[in-house]
Amino acid sequence: ERAPPATLVIFGAMGDLAKRLLMPSILNLMRDGLVGDDVGIVGVSHHDADDAALRDSLGQFVGKGDDAETAGAAWQALAGRIHYVRGSFEDAATYATLADRIEGNAAFYLATAPGFFGTIVDRLADAGILDESAGFRRVLIEKPFGHDLASAQALNARILARIPESQIYRVDHFLGKETVQNIMVARFGNALLEAVWNSRYIDHVQITAAETVGVGTRGTFYDATGALRDMVPNHLFQLLAMIGMEPPNSFDAEAIRNEKAKLLAAVRGPRPERVERDAVRGRYRAGQAGDATVPAYREERDIAADSRTETYAAIKLEVETWRWAGVPFYLRTGKALAARDTEIVVMFKPVPFALFRDTDVTRLPPNRLVLQVQPDEGISLDFVVKKPGPVVDTREASLDFRYADSLPLGHRTGYETLLYDALTGDQTLFQRADMIEAGWAAVQPVLDEWGKAGDPEDYDAGSAGPAAADELLARDGRQWHRIGA
Ligand code: BG6
Repeated sequence: ERAPPATLVIFGAMGDLAKRLLMPSILNLMRDGLVGDDVGIVGVSHHDADDAALRDSLGQFVGKGDDAETAGAAWQALAGRIHYVRGSFEDAATYATLADRIEGNAAFYLATAPGFFGTIVDRLADAGILDESAGFRRVLIEKPFGHDLASAQALNARILARIPESQIYRVDHFLGKETVQNIMVARFGNALLEAVWNSRYIDHVQITAAETVGVGTRGTFYDATGALRDMVPNHLFQLLAMIGMEPPNSFDAEAIRNEKAKLLAAVRGPRPERVERDAVRGRYRAGQAGDATVPAYREERDIAADSRTETYAAIKLEVETWRWAGVPFYLRTGKALAARDTEIVVMFKPVPFALFRDTDVTRLPPNRLVLQVQPDEGISLDFVVKKPGPVVDTREASLDFRYADSLPLGHRTGYETLLYDALTGDQTLFQRADMIEAGWAAVQPVLDEWGKAGDPEDYDAGSAGPAAADELLARDGRQWHRIGA
């Protein structure tokens, strides 16, 4: 079903996100007939530029993928409807100009530095632009949404003072990933999984987002942020929520977000006195990580020489619900690691009794379900089989589904779904205020403790992270799934 005609207003239109992800996504949506030729783009930014310069900037990545031809055609149709508004985000005059550019429906994408989110919403509201009498007016807000619990609460309060939750679309781009959405289908479309999806059968859960790249050109942002803030309360918690939530009573945005919010509210991070034990921070040394060659973190561009920022974080969480009591969730993320690997590993409990000759329970590997988010998207289930031969001996085998084999994911950025949903008014895949705040609340004790003292532990680029992360699991008699496995 085609999205209604609308103007997409991009704040920060000359930036990276707009050209790398937003523009290719719009073109993919046009190619697929989900957005019509009647969509218009207005870019707002302080850069000294004009319509032509904005078109050049936004066109940089058009047709660079395997979809060159169709993207080219969509671009021809769209380019003439791309317009530029130059001005400061603070200045009322910018919004007066902008108001003249909009009629009917409009979605505002805030792809700016986070310090502007509140200001832009205030000014849009002051100028009357968010009034929905002439068409829908929706505001998409990129991450990071706040820097900690207090700032996230303040930003929510500020924005909600001007527009209702129904007009706010807080973006977490992990939710646009096809395989992330598939978690819900895997869980609620298959009776088999739901039957064992609880503390009676599940020993623990591991959620990993490993990257090979270093901080690259994002040093200023990253050094003030760190791995925990950058990835954990947002992206990783979204995966956690999908794994842990109760079945919603419908596939409705509010029904699903209610269940996710309930789960997130039950997540407990380590209390202050446990942070040293249950949270681990690391920082990469120089070296080779997959395809990426990185300098030591402190030698990267725009990083303070005495920086204490972590590029790796691991944390042990509890989920205080009937279903999950006693099942630890171990989350980890880091840069300059052995492989790019985003996955969820659900480790089941071992069989209660070893029946086979010459085996004992500890030699029978427990079942393991791996939801591979990226790359090599798919699902696999490891289980035990008998080795052929007269002696009963066992080994591990795997049921393996790869998207690439039978359901190719195609050339997509992951932002298509998010933009389409925003244009059609579906908030399912967007973060609600309470979800954001629950995420920050769970990690706030760790942020506080880390802010006080101590340094991350150095790890080799291309490794699996700091030794303390292995110790965290070893203390519980467990070990991490190998990164890249
Ligand atoms: C972003 C983080 O939100 O997510 C980046 O700021 C990180 O540091 C990125 O690299 C990871 O996203 P993806 O889609 O590449 O897994």
